[in-house]
Amino acid sequence: MEELHELCEKVSAIKQEIKAELEKLESSKGVYEYKKSVLDNKTGKIGSLMKQMGKVPKEMKADYGKKVNELKVWAQEHFDELDAKFKAEELKRRYESEKIDVTMPAKKHVHGNLHPVTQVTNQLIDIFASMGFEIYEGSEIETDYYNFTALNTPQDHPARDMQDTFYLSPEFLLRTQTSAGQIHVMEAKKPPIKIISPGKVFRSDDDATHSPMFTQMEGLVVDKGITLGDLKGMLDEIVQKIFGEGTTTRLRPSYFPFTEPSVEVDVSCFQCGGCGCNLCKGTGWIEVLGAGVVNNKVLEGCGIDTEEYSGFAFGVGLERIAMLKYGFNNIKLLFESDLRVLNQIED
Ligand code: PHE
Repeated sequence: MEELHELCEKVSAIKQEIKAELEKLESSKGVYEYKKSVLDNKTGKIGSLMKQMGKVPKEMKADYGKKVNELKVWAQEHFDELDAKFKAEELKRRYESEKIDVTMPAKKHVHGNLHPVTQVTNQLIDIFASMGFEIYEGSEIETDYYNFTALNTPQDHPARDMQDTFYLSPEFLLRTQTSAGQIHVMEAKKPPIKIISPGKVFRSDDDATHSPMFTQMEGLVVDKGITLGDLKGMLDEIVQKIFGEGTTTRLRPSYFPFTEPSVEVDVSCFQCGGCGCNLCKGTGWIEVLGAGVVNNKVLEGCGIDTEEYSGFAFGVGLERIAMLKYGFNNIKLLFESDLRVLNQIED
């Protein structure tokens, strides 16, 4: 009986102690840790009482066990209650800290856009591809033969002066025109041929409308019965797609050694509709490209029978198209990478 009395006292002391300890706790983690320490079999206040069961005399075992168990249940209830209270508070605090103001303006993602010349190139590629043209990509370093001689421009030909060439050696040069690609295509492929060839070209030329490096797109069609009329018909359709409905073309006589006849192509001014403005310098027309019927000498040089086949070719400067289309007055703006300028152009 003595032991049981002692146990009762111990139990109420433990309860007091637990109550006092729980008062000091501040978090669910604290509750968890304290609970673990109290119930620990070896060192815990309640755990060790359970462990001592073995030493309790037989006749007291039932009462002892009951008392200790009651204490355990009591403690568990207190732990759970406090744990629930802390958990609720903690959750509330977390929600507060993670609160999102859905009315705040969203962070803006800066997205880039394609360079105006790339935009024009892509638009033209789409238009020509829809007309059944294939794309041929030539190389920027060419031989004198492909850039000039095969294009009916031998060494002593005065037309060589039209293009100031960057020579890398007597044989190699930076191509001055994408026309060099015409020869590669005609050497490799039998007609019918229908290709465009976009790419960089180089000339020793530098002012507000000329840059030593610029981009051209060559076009070449070789088939039976091709005439200048086919060129004109195709151009009329293309300029409407680039510059808007109602834009027409005008052909003026010109000279290129590799075309005969040769023409300069003007488009009706898409800014004033042809009445005359600053863009067309009062003429109503804007020059956009060079073209012509492929010279028989060029076809024959590539082994194409001129009795059976004829062709047309054109070459267009893409910076010039971008300048006209987007209103750039200096070609340098296209090469300075000034984002204030480039960001404005999004087609
Ligand atoms: N290659 C010529 C130039 O760069 C343009 C052109 C291409 C003219 C095809 C006629 C035919 O000026």
